[in-house]
Amino acid sequence: MQTRVLTGITTTGTPHLGNYVGAIRPAVASSRRADVDAFYFMADYHALIKSDDPARIERSRLEIAATWLAAGLDPQRVTFYRQSDIPEIPELTWFLTCVTAKGLLNRAHAYKAAVDKNAETGEDADAGVTAGLYMYPVLMAADILAFNAHKVPVGRDQIQHIEMARDIAQRFNHIYGREFFVLPEVVIEEQVATLPGLDGRKMSKSYDNTIPLFAGGKKHLRDSIMRIVTDSRTPGEPKDPDSSSLFTIFRAFASEAESSAFKQALLDGIGWGEAKKVLFERIEADVAPMRESYDALIARPAVIEEILHEGAKKARAVAAPKIAELRDAIGLRSGVSIAVAPAVAKEESKAGNKPRFASFRDGDGSFRFRLFSAEGEELLLSKSFADPKAAGALQKRLKGLGATAAVLQVKRLALNLELDGEHVASTPDYRDEETRDEALTRLREALDQLAAQE
Ligand code: TRP
Repeated sequence: MQTRVLTGITTTGTPHLGNYVGAIRPAVASSRRADVDAFYFMADYHALIKSDDPARIERSRLEIAATWLAAGLDPQRVTFYRQSDIPEIPELTWFLTCVTAKGLLNRAHAYKAAVDKNAETGEDADAGVTAGLYMYPVLMAADILAFNAHKVPVGRDQIQHIEMARDIAQRFNHIYGREFFVLPEVVIEEQVATLPGLDGRKMSKSYDNTIPLFAGGKKHLRDSIMRIVTDSRTPGEPKDPDSSSLFTIFRAFASEAESSAFKQALLDGIGWGEAKKVLFERIEADVAPMRESYDALIARPAVIEEILHEGAKKARAVAAPKIAELRDAIGLRSGVSIAVAPAVAKEESKAGNKPRFASFRDGDGSFRFRLFSAEGEELLLSKSFADPKAAGALQKRLKGLGATAAVLQVKRLALNLELDGEHVASTPDYRDEETRDEALTRLREALDQLAAQE
């Protein structure tokens, strides 16, 4: 079974080398693993908590999307989307808000830091604190829980938020009496380097000491590297690699062999100017090809938009049935569907128009079946079973499933039905994505009709 790995990137800044080494590069690498089902998204609702500058939000969304794609993220493989394109997230945020203890949110680090700062300056405790900042952990819990994520890779400053997401999930599960949510686990990447910035402190937007990854092009990268603070040792004097930012940054890009050569050069007294040139060339070797794709993407925002749009569709195919299930569980049921659905089903069965299974034996002797809609359209073809009883048991389960409990993975031109994390049946390949999405609706309908007959 695949592990669903989910993480969000707040869209307020411009990606820098520290983001690349610490978050983007490891996330792209992890998304390529066969056992990982990656959900990566731009947390642009979270960005609104930090910034009320529309131009900055817009720019950052575009830059971050282009950066992740240029860094090798494959949107066919990964579900890559914008938080604000998924209306199920704010909906779930409200459901969770109503089970979240206010006291839990009082303890959130970011909120407490703001209150403490106000206390220091003698202000009212909540001066300048928006309800958005206060609710930040609940929105983040919804980001994670809407997709049943197993693992959430984040920086250390976010650990508390994942713990809160677990608390909130458990509370909801407890109140409504079922395991609606997977309890997410935090993943802290211990191996990845934290890069020092221009002044030697951790590279961070809040210290204004960053080296941009793509923005400003090759020249800006070189100029920034030339500005990294060093000690006053002159050319010829040995340099201490372990206390040098240049060496730390170099190592994050280079192989072992390259790193030991650079280390030796420092010990042998290479001048700082020369060392910076070596560092620049090493980084540029990695960055140049990515920058080329980045520039091409930034020049064609419509392409990015299209990719994100597709990502949102894939993400909603997971979140929408989840929300439907939750709405039902908490009592937000449609009066119409409760009263009318069984009657409709009965009428249909009178006319003989209902979805049906057709079992058959495959050429290799194995057993399979198809699901046809009430109108006779083929909706699903099951996998092969050696034992006809197993095929029958699956039909039975599908009958009881209904659309809300069905996990339908959206593939490029088809849909896969999963049970307990295992692929059990697929639709035919459709002509295009629109046709596929229409078929998704009909398949859900058929599953609901089957369940209503049970
Ligand atoms: N708050 C995270 C940060 O600032 C970004 C984020 C938002 C996130 N929603 C998330 C990370 C869900 C992981 C999962 O880094």
